[in-house]
Amino acid sequence: MPMPWDFRPLEGARVRLDLLREDDFDALYAIQSDPDVCRYLLYEPRSRGRVQEVLERDAAATRLGEADSFVQPAIRDAAGRLIGTMYFKIASVEDKTAEIGWLLDPRFQGQGYAREAAALLLDLAFGELGLHRVYAELDPRNAASVALCLRLGMRHEAHFREHMWFKGDWADTGIYAILAHEWRG
Ligand SMILES: CC(C)(COP(=O)(O)OP(=O)(O)OC[C@H]1O[C@@H](n2cnc3c(N)ncnc32)[C@H](O)[C@@H]1OP(=O)(O)O)[C@@H](O)C(=O)NCCC(=O)NCCS
Repeated sequence: MPMPWDFRPLEGARVRLDLLREDDFDALYAIQSDPDVCRYLLYEPRSRGRVQEVLERDAAATRLGEADSFVQPAIRDAAGRLIGTMYFKIASVEDKTAEIGWLLDPRFQGQGYAREAAALLLDLAFGELGLHRVYAELDPRNAASVALCLRLGMRHEAHFREHMWFKGDWADTGIYAILAHEWRG
């Protein structure tokens, strides 16, 4: 596997993935403190202090190699605005498997930006990185995220019933996945 892989920007037709920067703070805070965005995320709306911490952590995460190494790049539109972030983590080196995740500023949802950003990472995963499988874990009530998985051609592989104590209640988790030959097909 051609890893470690050091981050370089990925260019799509309408979006660009590049590293988070210090001056992304206001836009990132607006997204990560929004209760609607966070409804199905593992965290509660974040404080300014917490967003500053994760911005510094994620801006410094630039290399994929070991298990659990990750990148959390900014999704930028043609004007260079931060419109969301992607998450991509090496889950297993031996099994050539990664996890993918996404979030968009509500003002930029419903326009296909997340799909395009995810496709850039799946092209990277199954091209340059030589990975075999990419999966997403989500709350099955998160219809927009489920729809995105399906639009990407990901298969619904598992549904865990009430296996997690989540924001004051038992919650389910859905697993969606795609294999290299399925993505190429
Ligand atoms: C999950 C999330 C990223 C999905 O965003 P999204 O905007 O619905 O997804 P896409 O960017 O792929 O856009 C798809 C929509 O844009 C529409 N669209 C408009 N123009 C388009 C274009 N040029 N290309 C593709 N789709 C387009 C599609 O028809 C679709 O609309 P629909 O939802 O009405 O069917 C978003 O809902 C989100 O950030 N949620 C909060 C955070 C979250 O829950 N993250 C996931 C945790 S698992």
